[in-house]
Amino acid sequence: MAQIERANMSDYLPGDPTPRDKIAQMIRVDHAGEYGATRIYAGQLAVLGRGAKGPTLQHMLAQEQAHLARFKELIASRRVRPTALLPLWHLAGYALGAATALLGERAAMACTVAVEEAIDAHYMAQSQRLGDDEAELRDVIETFRAEELEHRDTALANDAEKAPGYRLMSAAIKAGCRVAIAVSEKV
Ligand SMILES: [Fe+2]
Ligand SMILES: [Fe+2]
Repeated sequence: MAQIERANMSDYLPGDPTPRDKIAQMIRVDHAGEYGATRIYAGQLAVLGRGAKGPTLQHMLAQEQAHLARFKELIASRRVRPTALLPLWHLAGYALGAATALLGERAAMACTVAVEEAIDAHYMAQSQRLGDDEAELRDVIETFRAEELEHRDTALANDAEKAPGYRLMSAAIKAGCRVAIAVSEKV
């Protein structure tokens, strides 16, 4: 952090995001994403919670709740404004989870693969942008990224790719994730 605050401010035009703004954007969007993830699994559990995949979904939800809790702490300790779109992600995440679950267990798993692949790319890009002065944040992101990849692997092991319309659904969900990420950094 100290290193970032020492950055030469004359390099920035008025209105340009400073390094500090960029860290705030990262925490804002990651908090939003983990929030959305808990809502997706909540929606899936509402439909499939009593079925054979219930414990698997519950386990992934518990990890997302831990991710969200960590980003809530960072929002507070770094004084980052959360995204104004949390009410939207509250509804959209749940709707995505419930809708895919209604299509069946495999579609629910296909949703997880798509979301986690989008998040993996997002977290990897963030991690690469963070230097040793942000080692703590980078470690959080890398730890969570490893767990998101576990979720993807779990979903693949649960026949995600056998869902009807897998490719189309996957592409649509990934595109949605990328839009959600882009707006949640700023708004
Ligand atoms: Fe997560
Ligand atoms: Fe996840």
